[in-house]
Amino acid sequence: MNSPLRIALIGAGNMGQQHYQHLQSLAEATLCAVADPGPQAAGLAAQWGVAYFADYRQMLEQVRPDAVIVANPNTLHVSTALDCLAAGVPVLLEKPVGVHLDEVRELVAASKATGVPVLVGHHRRHNPLIVRAHELVHSGALGRLTTVTALWQLRKPDSYFEIPWRREPGAGMLLTNLIHDLDLLRHLCGEVRQVQAITSNAVRGFANEDCAAVLLQFDNGALGSLTGSDAVAAPWSWELDSGENPVYPHQTDQPCYLLAGTGGALSIPQLKRWHYADAEAGWHQPLLPVQESFSGDDALRLQLQHFVRVARREVEPLVSAADAARTLALIEAIREAAQTGRACAPTLIEE
Ligand SMILES: NC(=O)c1ccc[n+]([C@@H]2O[C@H](COP(=O)([O-])OP(=O)(O)OC[C@H]3O[C@@H](n4cnc5c(N)ncnc54)[C@H](O)[C@@H]3O)[C@@H](O)[C@H]2O)c1
Repeated sequence: MNSPLRIALIGAGNMGQQHYQHLQSLAEATLCAVADPGPQAAGLAAQWGVAYFADYRQMLEQVRPDAVIVANPNTLHVSTALDCLAAGVPVLLEKPVGVHLDEVRELVAASKATGVPVLVGHHRRHNPLIVRAHELVHSGALGRLTTVTALWQLRKPDSYFEIPWRREPGAGMLLTNLIHDLDLLRHLCGEVRQVQAITSNAVRGFANEDCAAVLLQFDNGALGSLTGSDAVAAPWSWELDSGENPVYPHQTDQPCYLLAGTGGALSIPQLKRWHYADAEAGWHQPLLPVQESFSGDDALRLQLQHFVRVARREVEPLVSAADAARTLALIEAIREAAQTGRACAPTLIEE
């Protein structure tokens, strides 16, 4: 049996602490150091019984971890990950992979050149219910995928915006929240050929959008829409409906994604599939519901287990830097479409 993988944590804020909790539950990995210049971090490292560094570069040199989790602010993601790759250390990099495609291209190239893997933290792809939904769509259970409806409609409390950067450009709900939904749509439904979009900040009046309506055309011909707002008293979002994160009250009966094909339809996260008994039937015949099953497990914990295997070069990352860059390219296309009023295609990213 392998000895536990020694993982260092760069950025011990809200997300870094969640990673630590999950790391504690794994036998195959152990925390070996914390690097974070913030005021709480030294205390956390002492409490967790590991070495503390304000500067992650010193940590890389002195501790030589087997792998790192990077959960620092978005603008530092690429530079931090590049330093880790240069030191030969595999990275679990929180989403978004970066804030601009140019810098992310550099990261994709560095991971390829060094052969050191990067796994990007689009953790919802590891959720067993998404694994099952992916199987269903790709097994042809829905026939030819035709229409996709995605909803992200909830209310963030006003206190959320008391932290200044959350009101400023770069921290809008597209890059912070809808990036998760768009990543899942790519994962489940395929690459997006072009988008049209309208965004608005009419409710909160901050620099960032608080409402977005996006039209999507997928490469496979399916058409979709994503309607998002962080300022509405509504129950339709992955956060509330999936029950993935216990900090949000679980709204068990409401879907956030509806996928429809020529042979059937699927509501997510309920995993309720609809089909006709006779494939040729139409709207006068009853649609039959089937409750698809999956075994629930924690997506962040499963992501960490996968990362241990990625770091040991046993498997390829489920979400590579190039894959995550395609989700970022989609966000950039949506922004451009909203600004210009034109249909825009995401930039192509090579592996
Ligand atoms: N996967 C998800 O669902 C999810 C959810 C929340 C946040 N995130 C991502 O996690 C990352 C962190 O978000 P958060 O909510 O934990 O923020 P946070 O502000 O709570 O934590 C960020 C931490 O990084 C530290 N930091 C700042 N500069 C640093 C540096 N140079 N080196 C090391 N550490 C540094 C800060 O001191 C702080 O402790 C973001 O990229 C965010 O997008 C992902």
